[in-house]
Amino acid sequence: MKKVFSLLLCAAACICAKAQTGPDVLIPKPVSYTLSKGSAPVGVPVKETIGSRKFASAIKDLPEFAKKEAYRLTIGPKNIKIEAEGQTGAFRARKTLEYLRAFAGEEGSLQCCQILDYPRFAHRGLMFDLSRHFYGKDFIFKEIDLMALLKMNVLHLHLTDDAGWRLQIDGYPLLASRAAWRPQLLWADWDEGGHNYSQEGAPDAFGGYLTKEDAREIVAYAAERHITVIPEIELPGHSLEVLRAYPELACTRDGEPVFTSDLCPGNDLVIKVFQDILDEVMDIFPSEFIHIGGDEAGMGAWRECPRCQERMRRHGLADTDALQSWLIRQFDSYLASKGRRLLGWDEIMQGGLAPGAAVMSWRGTEQGIEAAASGHDVIMSPTTYCYINRNQDSPLENGEFVGGYLPISGVYSYDPAQGFSNTEHLLGLQGNLWAEHIPTVENLEYKAFPRAFALAEVGWTPQELREFEEFRPRAVSLVKYISSIGYSPFNLERELGERPESGVALQHLALGAKVTYNIQWSPKYPAEGAESLTNGVQGGWTYVGGRWQGFESDMDVTIDLGQTKTVNFIGAHFLANIGDWVGLPQRLEISVSADGANFVLLPPVLCQVNAPARGSCYLLLGSFLDNAQVRFVRFKALRTGKLHEDWIFTDEIIIK
Ligand code: ACM
Ligand code: ZN
Repeated sequence: MKKVFSLLLCAAACICAKAQTGPDVLIPKPVSYTLSKGSAPVGVPVKETIGSRKFASAIKDLPEFAKKEAYRLTIGPKNIKIEAEGQTGAFRARKTLEYLRAFAGEEGSLQCCQILDYPRFAHRGLMFDLSRHFYGKDFIFKEIDLMALLKMNVLHLHLTDDAGWRLQIDGYPLLASRAAWRPQLLWADWDEGGHNYSQEGAPDAFGGYLTKEDAREIVAYAAERHITVIPEIELPGHSLEVLRAYPELACTRDGEPVFTSDLCPGNDLVIKVFQDILDEVMDIFPSEFIHIGGDEAGMGAWRECPRCQERMRRHGLADTDALQSWLIRQFDSYLASKGRRLLGWDEIMQGGLAPGAAVMSWRGTEQGIEAAASGHDVIMSPTTYCYINRNQDSPLENGEFVGGYLPISGVYSYDPAQGFSNTEHLLGLQGNLWAEHIPTVENLEYKAFPRAFALAEVGWTPQELREFEEFRPRAVSLVKYISSIGYSPFNLERELGERPESGVALQHLALGAKVTYNIQWSPKYPAEGAESLTNGVQGGWTYVGGRWQGFESDMDVTIDLGQTKTVNFIGAHFLANIGDWVGLPQRLEISVSADGANFVLLPPVLCQVNAPARGSCYLLLGSFLDNAQVRFVRFKALRTGKLHEDWIFTDEIIIK
C-alpha cells in the first residue's frame, strides 16, 4: 500500500509545479510563518531535533495536546530543520514538508521560511460508516494517507449497524458469518427488500467484515501516521443485524423475539454479550475512547417487554430514556474499569449522562454545549456543518444523497467553539460520512473531499486566521493534486453553488399578502413564519435552510390579496426529496373568492410528475385562470395515495 502511494506521489509531483512553493499553499493553514530570502531545491537534507529546550520554550504557553503536535519547520537554502517536542509533532512537520515538496514538483523549489505550527483542537476526526456499504481495508489505508496529509488525527469507524456487522468477534461468530452478509449489494435495495441477511459463502452474500488481523493492521497503519482509530459498536439501537444472528438479545412479546433495531436493555445477557464483545474490541483498538453508539433507539418494544418493564421497576426508572441511560451507565463503568472511556452520540444524554461519558454532538450544537457545561468532554459533529455525506452542490447534478445542502463554504463557516462559554471540555470536531448512499470508494471520496479539507482547517487553524475566500483557491489546488495521485474528489472548480433562484426576489400579485393557515406549518420548518409564502423569497437546494416552509400534513392556507385583483395564474413552488420523506403534493384544490365567503373551486390540479426516488426536485404547480376577479384564494396541497405520509415543502404561493 505504502509503496503504491509513494509512487503515485512522485508521478504526480510535476503537475503542480511552480517556481517557488511557500506555506501559503498549505491546508490546514499554519498558525504562523515568516518568509525569508531565497529558496531551497526540494531535495535538501532534513535534520530533526526532538525535545530541545529552545523549542520547548517556544511552545511553553500551549495546552498539552497542542504541544504534542506542535512543530517548527525551518527551510533554509541548504538545509531544512524540523523541531518538535516528540514524534507526533515531528510527523506533522514531515507532512507539511511533503505537501510543499509535492506542490513544488521535482523541478521546483521551496521558498525559504520558518513555520511554527500547532492545532487549535485535540480531536480532528473523520468517521466512515462501514456498515451500510463495506469497502475493505485497502480503502481505509488510502484515506488514512490523506488524513495524515491534512493533519487529521482521529479515524472513527462505524463498524456495526442494521445493514451489516463489520468486525470479526471470536466469541460470537455469527456476527461475522451471518450479520455481515446480506442478499443485496446496495443499501437502498437491502432497505427496500425487507432487511434480510445472508450467510458467508452463500451465492447471494454481499458485504464482509474486517478480520481481527485487518483491524490490527488498520490500527497500526494509522498509529504510524499519528492517527487514533476509535471503533464504534452500536447499542442499544441500530442493532437489527445482531438480533437476527442472536434473537435471544431481542425484547419479547408473548415469549417471541421482537425484531425492532433495539437490543433488550432488560436482559442481563445483552450486557454480558456486549461486555464480551467490547473485551475483544479493546484488545484490538488501543484508543482511550470506545464509541458505543447510543443514537436513535426506537424504544417502542421496551414499553411492552416483560424484562424491560421488570428492569425499570426494579431500578425505579421512570421511562425508556432512563432505561437507556441505565444501560449506558453499565458500559460506562465497564469501560472505565478497563481504563477506557465511553463515547456516544448525544442521545446518551437523555435520561441522564453516565458519569465518565463523552458526547459526540450530532443533532445540533446545543447538546454538546450542554454536556460540556456539565463537565463532560464533547466532540462536535452537528449535521448542519459536519455531515459531509450531504449534498455539496446542485442536487440536479449530484446523484444520491440524504439530508440537506452542505457546500464546502458551509463546512468552513463552522466555528466549533461558538456558543461555548468555556471550551475546556471541547475536544474538537469530526466529519461524518454516513454511507447509505455511498456505494463505492469513488463516491465516498467525491463526498469526503474537498469538504474534509475544510474540516481539517477548522480543527487546526486559529479561528481569526480563517477566511473562506482565501481558503478556496488552496482547496482547488489540493483537489487537483489529490486527483493526480488517485483520489476522486468533487471538482471544486466546477461547483455550481446554491440554487440560482434562491437569490432572486419574486414579483407577483400576492407579495406581502396576509396568509391564514387553516393547517399550521410544522414548528420544525417554520421558514419566516406567516410571511414565508408571500414574501417573494425563494428557497435554496435544501428544505433545511429556513426558506422552505414544511407541513407534516396537507397544506391548507387562505390568502387575502387586500383588494380584488385580476388574476391569471395561481400556483406554488414545491420541493421533493423522497429519500428524506419529502414528497410532491398529489393534488391541488384551489378556490377563489371576491368576498371571502363564497368560494369557487377551480378544476383540481393533479401532479403528473413522479419525484425521483433519489435526489431532489423542484416544481411549480398551479392553475391558469382567465382574467378572474379575485381577492381571496384558498390553496390546498394534498397528499394522497402512497405518498400520504410524505412532508410537503413550499417556499412561495405565486399569484399572477
Ligand atoms: C447519527 O447520525 N444517527 C449519529
Ligand atoms: Zn426488552
